[in-house]
Amino acid sequence: MEQLKQRILTEGRVKSGNVLKVDSFLNHQMDIHLFDEMGKAFKERYKEDEITKIVTIEASGIGIACIVARHFNVPVVFAKKSESRNLDGDLYTSPIYSFTHQKEYMVRVSKKFLSAEDKVLVIDDFLANGKALIGLLDIIKQSGATLVGAGIAIEKGFQGGGDALREQGIRIESLAIIDEMGEDFIKFRD
Ligand code: G4P
Ligand code: NA
Ligand code: NA
Repeated sequence: MEQLKQRILTEGRVKSGNVLKVDSFLNHQMDIHLFDEMGKAFKERYKEDEITKIVTIEASGIGIACIVARHFNVPVVFAKKSESRNLDGDLYTSPIYSFTHQKEYMVRVSKKFLSAEDKVLVIDDFLANGKALIGLLDIIKQSGATLVGAGIAIEKGFQGGGDALREQGIRIESLAIIDEMGEDFIKFRD
């Protein structure tokens, strides 16, 4: 998606540890018009699929998922990372290892909100090593729902998570795939 790539080039900052900072439009301040264009782009790519639910993970996936969901006209369910008193009843859970934070955490979704009748599109802001996405796919599998695919804003292709999942036959549509980046350059996949 050209518009997203341009924003990454003009506003993105490459930090140490292969981290791309995009908090002027994606991860802190959020550009809702850009999110809306992303929604259009995902809808175009998944227009043949009868999505019934969008699944994402807190925190920074939620804003994008909600605006994307307007284009599919379906609810959003976000996996929770923290134990919460508001999470009652039976849960699907999956452990996720975060390289960025070097620790494992559990994600949880109530069984009330995901079932075998659902056809799910996963939405997230970043795909790096793919651990967060694998955790969400595990939860979707536990629920018996059909996974249609994933829609990712920015994939860091050089970290390999996306391609490994594609090799397993999972459909992943990323709006910008970065194959290489350094302090003063960002190279996108064609
Ligand atoms: P993985 O899920 O792909 O394996 O990646 P990893 O565990 O390393 O990512 C941890 C967190 O960092 C995730 O957010 C992910 O979205 C985010 N992330 C990964 N690479 C980048 C990057 O280059 N730039 C930015 N801005 N974020 C990146 P999170 O910690 O789960 O939390 P939240 O921010 O959504 O609350
Ligand atoms: Na994040
Ligand atoms: Na995220």
